[in-house]
Amino acid sequence: SERTFIAVKPDGVQRGLVGKIVSRFEERGYKLVAIKAVVPSRALAEEHYADLRARPFFRGLVEYMTNGKAPVVAMVWEGKDVVRQGRAMIGATNPLESSPGSIRGQYCVSVGRNIIHGSDSFESATKEIQLWFGKPGEVIDWEPANWVWTMAEN
Ligand code: GTP
Ligand code: MG
Repeated sequence: SERTFIAVKPDGVQRGLVGKIVSRFEERGYKLVAIKAVVPSRALAEEHYADLRARPFFRGLVEYMTNGKAPVVAMVWEGKDVVRQGRAMIGATNPLESSPGSIRGQYCVSVGRNIIHGSDSFESATKEIQLWFGKPGEVIDWEPANWVWTMAEN
């Protein structure tokens, strides 16, 4: 199975949505292998969103992620197809387009305050997990007792 990087953004933390978001991934059948609260440095936020450097909202995005009014809750989740499934669970970037059952579709109205991040590809996930959880031992291998019941395909 694969891993993805999921982060509750500072607005999601301020609004008390961390538990609900963690529950959605747990209940779907995914395994939490890393979690921490962190106020990212400017350098970390800029590297994380490096693809968006040229966009007009980039400065505001980095400011909002790093200003320390609340931390980011950074996580790594593991399981079958979790990169694509995580994106589906999160919903479209602009809450106006996210389906009502998705996380953004349930909790957000503004693209600039869309409460959660999820890696958009396996390559992004690999890069982001290394960036946020690069120290040895920060990502923990473990086996849930019910894993085989969640994961079996036949
Ligand atoms: P992430 O999971 O956070 O990476 O969102 P995404 O993959 O759905 O969208 P994208 O990577 O294109 O943009 C990253 C983040 O930048 C979004 O989640 C928004 O918080 C912010 N963003 C994107 N487009 C806009 C925009 O048009 N205006 C503003 N203010 N913010 C935007
Ligand atoms: Mg993105």
